Amino acid sequence: MSAAVGIALTGSGAASPARVVTNDELSLWLDTSDDWIRSRTGIAARRIATADDSLESLSSQAAQQALEQAGWRPDQVDLILLATSSPEDLFGSAPAVQAALGASNAVAFDLTAACSGFLFALITAAQYIRSGACRRVLVVGADLLSRWVDWQDRRTCVLFGDGAAAVAMEAAPEGWDGLLTMVMRTDGRRRGCLTMAHQVTPQVLHDHLHAGFGGFRPIAMDGQEVYKFAVQQVPLVLTQVLEQAGLTAEQLDWLLLHQANERILASVAQRLGVPAAKVLSNLGSYGNTSAATIPLMLHEAVEAQRIRPGHLIASSGFGAGLSWGAALLRWGRPDAT
Ligand code: ACO
Repeated sequence: MSAAVGIALTGSGAASPARVVTNDELSLWLDTSDDWIRSRTGIAARRIATADDSLESLSSQAAQQALEQAGWRPDQVDLILLATSSPEDLFGSAPAVQAALGASNAVAFDLTAACSGFLFALITAAQYIRSGACRRVLVVGADLLSRWVDWQDRRTCVLFGDGAAAVAMEAAPEGWDGLLTMVMRTDGRRRGCLTMAHQVTPQVLHDHLHAGFGGFRPIAMDGQEVYKFAVQQVPLVLTQVLEQAGLTAEQLDWLLLHQANERILASVAQRLGVPAAKVLSNLGSYGNTSAATIPLMLHEAVEAQRIRPGHLIASSGFGAGLSWGAALLRWGRPDAT
């Protein structure tokens, strides 16, 4: 049996709505305050999509940037995987990204796993490359949860923001691997902690056929349960990926967690023994952009040359499902280290 193909992470991109909404602006209609939101979450502002923005357009911009950074032509892309829980078409928004890029040879589909979505998509995409089925994949994480929250529910709406970001992933030359180890988990028994549930209303079509018609309820969350789940489970999966790779937390260059809450980041880092200087965070400016947080933070750090080729990154996504996972990543391609 031939050895599995290695992975190289060779490009990144991001696109956010232009409209910035500060905590003070939220206080104009909500019984909340900048002090409450900052001290409980670390969030100071978030980007909110206006009616002129679209998830498909932001995703396409982010994917285009990642493709250019990787140095690929659109027709060389084999797969576009869009992690999102807020598609503009429930049949899938990924085909719109494929069309916008002109990636005529790529198959494109959505993957839904809430805030774990990007990490799950990255790991899924890697399997296509390792098996030899694909050589070049664009993995996009995008969510516009501002369109799915109840703007009168201060317990949830202050947490979320909108954004899209992407990573280009390709088959690596022998001896290099950008996805060292990974773990994925789901506990469906606790799915009620965080939902965006479909609600069906009976619809009588004729005497013997009662069908259903429905719409989606806004995000509902048991914040404390989700918080406890994250601080308990995330350190465990991160420890597991480090052990699988035979590495220790001291060897990490960066800890790149799903950006949900500054207190969760600090607690996980402390449990692993990772110093604050190695914890990537942009929560203050973006809030929780769901599937977009990890690639958005990654892209910012790559652009700022904080993350450099060869750097070792431990990443973890967690959220609705409940779902969570971790991966040990090495950024870049071998000739650039
Ligand atoms: N402004 C002012 N007061 C508020 C606000 C607000 N925005 N929201 C809640 N409060 C009040 C509550 O009403 C409550 O008041 P009471 O004591 O009079 O009843 C008080 O503040 C404390 O509320 P708690 O819910 O206990 O606050 P807590 O300290 O748990 O913080 C938070 C809430 C920030 C949501 C926290 O639980 C958390 O971050 N949980 C994790 C959530 C998360 O990360 N979710 C995303 C997962 S990713 C995904 O898959 C989408």
